[in-house]
Amino acid sequence: MTVGSVLVTGGTGYIGSFTALALLEADYKVVIVDNLYNSSKECLNRIELISGKRPEHYTLDITDEPALDKVFDDHPDIDSVIHFAALKAVGESAEIPLEYYRVNVYGTICLLRSMTRHNVTNIVFSSSATVYGDATRFENMIPIPEHCPIGPTNPYGRTKATNELIITDHVEAQRNNAKKEGKSGDQWNAALLRYFNPAGSHPSGIMGEDPQGVPYNLLPLLAQVAVGKREKLLVFGDDYSSKDGTAIRDYIHILDLAAGHLVALNYLRDQHPGVRAWNLGTGKGSTVFEMIKSFSHAVGRDLPYEVVGRRAGDVLDLTANPKRANEELKWKAKLTLEDACEDLWRWTKNNPQGYRQQPPAEFLEK
Ligand code: NAD
Ligand code: WQD
Repeated sequence: MTVGSVLVTGGTGYIGSFTALALLEADYKVVIVDNLYNSSKECLNRIELISGKRPEHYTLDITDEPALDKVFDDHPDIDSVIHFAALKAVGESAEIPLEYYRVNVYGTICLLRSMTRHNVTNIVFSSSATVYGDATRFENMIPIPEHCPIGPTNPYGRTKATNELIITDHVEAQRNNAKKEGKSGDQWNAALLRYFNPAGSHPSGIMGEDPQGVPYNLLPLLAQVAVGKREKLLVFGDDYSSKDGTAIRDYIHILDLAAGHLVALNYLRDQHPGVRAWNLGTGKGSTVFEMIKSFSHAVGRDLPYEVVGRRAGDVLDLTANPKRANEELKWKAKLTLEDACEDLWRWTKNNPQGYRQQPPAEFLEK
């Protein structure tokens, strides 16, 4: 028995694959569309090893509307979409902004048009804490609440903020049009999920983040230092006004983040709230030095690092106020930074080539 059918765009990526797993474990049917630009189909095998269920996957580009139409035609039972497919490298977005707007913004327009043609009316959107920009420019906005003014500082962040507006306008228009036709108008709903810093892997050690190129996020880079692929971590600045001088982020375990998508989807389907933004974070900030310490503890030895200058565009503090999601969605991050570090290390040790290798033997023997 399935409880519903969901299209997951970008579902072979890091957050998408964990959300697909959470959906399957909650008895949803999952159909993934992903062009495999930054992911691999091997994660489908891993999802199946863990859950005993396999999502269906179509290799397609999110800007290919006829292909999206065909997926909805093939699966008339789909009533909701979780939309992850996007380009996400902040630095690259300043070098090729048009490509970021094409994939992230035009891709979302294509998806919304195809959804509308097929009467698929719930969308959970991967937004980002990056839409807030530097919240320390305001007084009393750390930890950051959803009413903090939006002010992204790079093209990637602007594609996310633009998508929030496009989705809001479309959902409101669809609701108003339905009311004009004498219908209730509550059919269309959207969750704008603003994630803070996703971290960690599956505790089994067979599912994790597997970026295709050079990683640029703190934890994947630390993992490379731990396995000797990188000599040391470069710490971007120790002259911030934090307790140890390094910048503060809110690292949320990937399993908690995936669970947040499930509850947001259920909320849309049950409560019909219209458009609502929720922060998904723990509410607890950690510095770069604290992260190095925590991951070194998981690895069992000190990891080498060197303090260099600040990275352009970095901000002092991105810590969530997750109260709205805690209260409305009855969702709370349960796992700790230590859990994330231990799980990441298990994944890294077990899969030195990421998904470009078979899962560890003990899983295949099962
Ligand atoms: P990811 O790169 O692992 O996943 C994105 C997926 O989208 C990949 O599998 C990629 O192949 C696919 N994709 C890219 N372009 C596509 C296209 N044109 N057509 C179809 N598929 C395409 O990234 P992630 O970390 O899992 O992020 C998922 C979503 O969450 C993204 O929208 C990202 O912007 C957002 N987000 C990520 C973070 C983070 O730190 N990881 C934080 C906040 C928000
Ligand atoms: C974390 C901290 C760095 C690497 C990015 C995006 C954001 C969101 C999440 C998508 C910072 C420091 C890092 C290194 C370091 N993604 N650092 N040395 O910048 O908070 O957020 O990913 O929406 O939009 O900007 O994450 O992991 O890159 O950095 O010292 O080699 O680690 O300065 O303080 P960030 P990050």
